[in-house]
Amino acid sequence: MQTHAVDHPLVAHKLTTLRDERTDSPTFRRLADELVTLLAYEATRDVRVAPATVATPVATAQGVQLTAPKPLVVPILRAGLGMLDGMTRLLPTAEVGFLGMVRDEGSLQAETYATRLPDDLSGRQCYVLDPMLATGGTLAAAIKLLLDRGADDVTALCLLAAPEGLDHLAKAFEGTGAPIRVVTAAIDDRLDGNGYIIPGLGDAGDRLYGVV
Ligand code: URA
Repeated sequence: MQTHAVDHPLVAHKLTTLRDERTDSPTFRRLADELVTLLAYEATRDVRVAPATVATPVATAQGVQLTAPKPLVVPILRAGLGMLDGMTRLLPTAEVGFLGMVRDEGSLQAETYATRLPDDLSGRQCYVLDPMLATGGTLAAAIKLLLDRGADDVTALCLLAAPEGLDHLAKAFEGTGAPIRVVTAAIDDRLDGNGYIIPGLGDAGDRLYGVV
């Protein structure tokens, strides 16, 4: 598994404001959206392209275009939805699938309550959106589901990651040979006893959408 913490002053600046407890939901949503677009730039570095020729108004130019099958973007409900627009802004032709997963706050285990994905993901590059890589249970379950359906490679975009979650993912897919990458704005210190990332930014879903 590869981990990439994006080192860029704009990423650090936006993340700092996201962390700030005084940042209200509308501002949080806007900043998360902008931050995801910056992460998406890094996350799509290996998106597949093929050579293409276009006619400019004055000559022929060699370039590239995205190849089929289309990449699949998969936000994990609920908080991953807050990352969808930022991602599809850079990959507008991607298809979008949905995964509903919830973490049992007692066991901290992930449970799937909704899936809307193609059955066959052979040859597909998948981009999973989950803002907080905490214990890693939810993301590991999501990635396994995509690989079981034949996904070629899976890149997870997270606003923040905890070392415990990264370790969990690395162990879960060790030796499988599955190409998995995590792209995040920062790797924080640790998890607290409730599974929250420290220093983190609190509950991403609540901060995006208000407490429901
Ligand atoms: N989920 C969140 O929203 N925040 C955390 O810190 C951990 C998991």
